[in-house]
Order: sequence, then structure tokens, then C-alpha cells
Amino acid sequence: MDAVVRRARPITGEFTLPGDKSIGHRALLIAALANGTSELRQFPNSGDLVRTLDCIRSLGVGVGRNETSLVIEGKGLGGLREPEQTLDAGNSGTTARLLSGILSGQTFQSSLTGDQSLRRRPMKRIIDPLSRMGARIDSTPGFTPPLTIHGRFPLKPISYELPVPSAQVKSAVLLAGLFAEGTTTVVETQPSRDHTERMLSLPITEQGGKKIVSVTGGKTPGPIQMNIPGDISSASYLIAAALTVPQSEIVLRNIGLNPTRTRILGVLQNMGGQIHVHERGSELGEPFGDIHVSFSALSGNITITGRDVPLLIDELPLLAVTAALCKAHFQLREARELRHKESDRIALLVRNLRSMGLDVEEYEDGFAFEGKKNVIGARIQTDGDHRVAMAFAVAGLGAHGETVIPDAHSSDISFPGFWDLLSPFITS
Ligand code: S3P
Repeated sequence: MDAVVRRARPITGEFTLPGDKSIGHRALLIAALANGTSELRQFPNSGDLVRTLDCIRSLGVGVGRNETSLVIEGKGLGGLREPEQTLDAGNSGTTARLLSGILSGQTFQSSLTGDQSLRRRPMKRIIDPLSRMGARIDSTPGFTPPLTIHGRFPLKPISYELPVPSAQVKSAVLLAGLFAEGTTTVVETQPSRDHTERMLSLPITEQGGKKIVSVTGGKTPGPIQMNIPGDISSASYLIAAALTVPQSEIVLRNIGLNPTRTRILGVLQNMGGQIHVHERGSELGEPFGDIHVSFSALSGNITITGRDVPLLIDELPLLAVTAALCKAHFQLREARELRHKESDRIALLVRNLRSMGLDVEEYEDGFAFEGKKNVIGARIQTDGDHRVAMAFAVAGLGAHGETVIPDAHSSDISFPGFWDLLSPFITS
């Protein structure tokens, strides 16, 4: 389905948003391995999480619902059963990579595949460490899915310095570490989201600017009772829309405020964005609170490189689009990783920003441009990528003329209800 986006009327009101996708994946996987019944409240019905849910069901885990929660009957560390069919991770890199960590520690063989986009995504980054731990993982010659994982129990503990700053790789190794005989350590030179460490309460030390996380095998996780906070990556689309559409004023309730995810707020505040955060509490080590946003005249010289890249990884399409709508110079470098997401996001961002009238210079590891007030509506190429679709929907709210977003419901992958929320503010 195509969505047509035109200039927006002021965006106002209070919103609660679907729960955080990254936390949701980890809650499901850890609940599956727990020694008891977990209850997850405000569990989002996003496409990627449905994939993780279906996968754990195929591994013999009971999942049900009561009035308020998703209820998961944990099997303990040794209780998963061999799946009858190939596991399907759909569009979800997080499902594929984190689950591979768990499957590596099983005494059975399993296969895992995904949609066209996932079957292009690099898996050598998990195959290398998981093989060092003793699993054997077959893939295509280009190290992409389908994967066949010949598990082994117990795995060998390793000490692994991440060659790419990736929370998915870190989490795959830590989850495999639950099945290792001894202590596995992961060393991070650039911080990435830390939900796995928080949920498993793993010990962390710092040495020479590096972060070292360790996990000791054989300790079955306890069951989880949790309200999943709203997804800050989803919140970012509304925040950017409210900042760029005149007279907007919104409040977003109970949004996750984990410091490895909130860099986007800092960058938008540095551009002059009026964003006020009220922390209200925390759930299993994950802080959450309310975010107040008012329309602001954004501007600035925005350079994103190095340590900022993993901390903004999912917000980079939106940040680029926001800069395009205001008087800003935007430069992104050292972000080659963006070419390996659900789509080649560098190629798509460059192409779509150009079609909206911007003069964009493309690099192998990023791009640069001058933002301007008068961007023009265009037909966007999304390649089915949910974040590209939602970012350019925000661009369309500030553009002259119509912006057409093909495959608009790809947003359901991470933000079910995105269009229902946005539609009342789009002028007819
Ligand atoms: C995720 C980590 C990020 C992010 C993805 C979700 C996670 O990937 O892009 O949407 O939940 O661990 P990388 O860690 O591979 O960059």
C-alpha cells in the first residue's frame, strides 16, 4: 500500500507508544530459558517480535496471554526441543543473531532463514565467535542466511573483542555464554545498546576506555516480570515531527530512557530542539519516563562519526531527514554499517534526499548535505525498509507537495500503529 503524505497541521496531544523492540526480543529469549513463568506487560505486536515469538514456540516454549500480559513458560537452560521446521526470522536481524547464540549451545541441529532482506545480511560477525565457542554454523558462501547451526553443549568460554560495534553480536556471544563451561567475556571499544547486560544483571568492568562484560555459564536466568517501556526509536519519529511542524506540542508517556539509546535526544537538543525529559522510574534496570516536545527552530552543524554511530544507529535515517528540513549542515561518516541494515540505508537516504531537492554528496561510509526549508515532495524508494519509510513520512510532513511512501505498512515491523497515529495530522 502507498501512503500519501502532505504538509501537517500542528501535532498535539499525549501519546503512549508500542514497547521497545530491542527489550522485547531479549525478554522473550531470556524468558524462554528461565526457570519459571514470565509475564511481559505492554508487549508490542511488532512484526519482528512476532518472529521471535514464533521461533521460541517452535523450540517448545509455551506462550499464552492473560488479561494484561504475554505469559511465557520458561524451559530452563536445558529444555528447548529440536524444531521440526526451519526457523523463520522474517525481516529481523536481532532474532537471527541473538537466537543463533542460543542455538549454538543446544545438543541438536537447527536451521534459520528469513526474508529477502535478511538473506542479504552479514552473519560472519556471529559465525566467527560462535564457531570459536565450538558450534558449527553453515551459511551461504557469502556468510548470509540460511544458517544451519550444529550446536554443542557445553560451549567453550571465550574472550572476544568485538570487531564491529554491534549489540546484536555482543548479545549473541553473551547468550551463548550461558551454555559455556566457565566465564565468557565480551570487550567493547565503542559502546552499543546494553539491554542484554541489564536484563541478565551481568558484571561490567572498564579498562583503558574499553567495556568488559562477562557471563558465567550454567546459571539459569530467573523469570521476568516487566512492563516494557515505550520504544525510544519509535518515539523519535514523533519527536522529529513535533520539532519541525510549527505550533506542535506533544507529550510521550513511559518511553525507555536507557542512556545507550537516548543520544538522539541530545543531538536534537543541540540543534535547538525543546525536548524535556522527566524520568519516572525503572523496570528491570531500564529507566523510563515522559518526553515533552515543542516546535523549535532547528539549525546547526551536525557531524556524526565514531562513537556516536552505534548510539544513533537506528535513528540515523530520521536524523538526516530532520536536518534536511532545517538550516543545517549535516555530515555522517564512519557509518558503513548502515549499508548492512534492512536495506542499504546510505544508498536509499542519498537517493531519496536528492529526489526531494537536496544536493547530497555520497561517501562509502556516509554522506553530507546542506538542509533547506523548501524540500519538495517525491515518490520515495523504501526497499521495504521500515525505518526509511517512517523517516521519509516525517520529511513529507514538512515538504511542499505530496510525498508517496510505497509499502507504507513496513512500519509494522517496529512501530505498529504508526500511520493511525500520524494520519489525523496530515492535511487533505
Ligand atoms: C539491535 C541492535 C542494532 C540495531 C537493531 C537492534 C538490538 O543492530 O540496529 O535495530 O536489538 O540489539 P547492531 O547492534 O547490529 O548495530
